[in-house]
Amino acid sequence: MEPGLHRYVQRHGWDLASSCYEEYWQQQLQPALDRVLHTADLQPGEDVIDVACGTGLATLPAAAKVSPGGRVLGTDMSPRMVADLERSVAATGITNVEVSCGDAEQLDSDRVFDVALCSLGLMYLPDPLAAIRRLHRVVRPGGRAVVSVWGERRNCGWAGVFPVVEARVSSDVCPLFFALGAPGALTDTFTQAGFVDVVETRLEVGLDYAGDEQALGAAFRGGPVALAHSRFDEATRQSAYADYLDSIAGFANGAGYHVPGEFVIASARRP
Ligand SMILES: C[S@@+](CC[C@H](N)C(=O)[O-])C[C@H]1O[C@@H](n2cnc3c(N)ncnc32)[C@H](O)[C@@H]1O
Repeated sequence: MEPGLHRYVQRHGWDLASSCYEEYWQQQLQPALDRVLHTADLQPGEDVIDVACGTGLATLPAAAKVSPGGRVLGTDMSPRMVADLERSVAATGITNVEVSCGDAEQLDSDRVFDVALCSLGLMYLPDPLAAIRRLHRVVRPGGRAVVSVWGERRNCGWAGVFPVVEARVSSDVCPLFFALGAPGALTDTFTQAGFVDVVETRLEVGLDYAGDEQALGAAFRGGPVALAHSRFDEATRQSAYADYLDSIAGFANGAGYHVPGEFVIASARRP
């Protein structure tokens, strides 16, 4: 897919997904979010940038960890995700979070940060290396970056959603999605960007869905195929739903599903 079109699909897809993202994904992603924050080992007083911050599932706990004295800048290309985070910040009265809207590949800042986080964002970029180079640029010498991505396709039981959608639209919705989940891929990309001491760990999880509605909502409305899904007519939706449920039938668990998932978490240091 042409990069400009890819960004359009991502930006508008995540705008659509923003209103139900936490409903479908917060609990499922919690183990990966916890691992990212644990790995980052944030300390009071540190300045942090959280790239592709979404609704702030990493941003807000990071802000608590760096308090007092530290700040977190959350940045994301989806205006609606950013607006959601701004609302949460206002509602909770947190004073050490700033929010901005922008593309991770164009990230530019006069500030330098002690730590850059990117939780489950890099898979959606047409050029993840460009984004990691930007992280390198905004982290101070000696500072660190911690990111997470989904792992290998064969270990992510929900991956059938991509071929189901791609059979009904003209182009790949997420062509590079699992590329960074291959063993060593994050290490190679961070090393190319100039980082050192790259450490990758893997985390296996089970994604529990109470029933068809929850599994379908997470796959089609709460994530990266939301734009394609919004344009399907009713008959196309129903056939896509049936094919997707077929693809996860092997993970049925009572009335619901227990779908395997895998994350890769990488940490690195700017020399
Ligand atoms: C799965 S969500 C992750 C959000 C959050 N970091 C979390 O862990 O819950 C992916 C996010 O990546 C953002 N995103 C996708 N492409 C991006 C880009 N090129 N630049 C910045 N953000 C991007 C989306 O808008 C979305 O909010």
